[in-house]
Amino acid sequence: MKSVALITGGGKGIGASIAERLSFKNKIAIFDINTPDTPIKESLFLNVDVSVSDQVKEGVEKVVQEFGRIDILVNNAGITKDGLSIRMSDSDWQRVLDINLTGVFYCCREVARIMIKQKGGRIINITSIIGIVGNIGQVNYSASKGGIIALTKSLAKELASRNITVNAIAPGFIDTEMTKALKDEIRVEISKKIPLGRFGKPEDVASLVEFLSEDSTSYITGETIVIDGGLSLIL
Ligand SMILES: NC(=O)c1ccc[n+]([C@@H]2O[C@H](COP(=O)([O-])OP(=O)(O)OC[C@H]3O[C@@H](n4cnc5c(N)ncnc54)[C@H](O)[C@@H]3O)[C@@H](O)[C@H]2O)c1
Repeated sequence: MKSVALITGGGKGIGASIAERLSFKNKIAIFDINTPDTPIKESLFLNVDVSVSDQVKEGVEKVVQEFGRIDILVNNAGITKDGLSIRMSDSDWQRVLDINLTGVFYCCREVARIMIKQKGGRIINITSIIGIVGNIGQVNYSASKGGIIALTKSLAKELASRNITVNAIAPGFIDTEMTKALKDEIRVEISKKIPLGRFGKPEDVASLVEFLSEDSTSYITGETIVIDGGLSLIL
């Protein structure tokens, strides 16, 4: 039976690239609040807001009804609402934590129940180097992404005996709509600082997700793998 991958925020950007890459070997289900830019043939798209517990629960049930199982979960949905902490509103703090961190917990909880019954699975959480090194204007985002790294370690310990691995990927600057918001001069400044001299591509992250989902990497768990062109080496 073909394995099944569920990707949150798989409608565009990094998530769309992950969905496309995993579609070569897996059936694909996507949770997103926006319809995909380029839908994948025979994939299941579900309009699910990962920050709403009931929607996640129902969404996971629908994936299992349609495909019978879930082998790979990629928690990729995420947003930014940047601002200096002294000016940050309660709602900008809360929304980022709700989607980026609580959403990861809801999806992990529901899918882990399925994977435990199946006696195996892979969970891959997309965090950020900002969750490791911090950033001005991103207290909400960095707290949510740092939280994902801690969640990944705890969940890896909880699920290891069930043959489920849990890992995180921490990208640096990747070319997507999220980083298009940066002004041109700031992009140039950042690119100059990155040792490999460029922003990453969504496909760079997709390659690492694919690697962590392969049979040959079943002995890696609880790790956060940085993919940033060397940027965090010099921060
Ligand atoms: N782009 C970067 O430089 C970069 C760097 C490090 C980490 N990341 C992380 O990678 C992930 C993807 O980022 P991206 O750049 O592709 O972003 P993006 O904005 O291009 O895409 C994010 C996707 O998530 C979906 N989404 C947003 N809120 C949602 C919700 N509540 N429920 C379900 N889906 C939701 C959006 O509709 C969109 O399809 C995020 O977690 C982001 O924090 C991105």
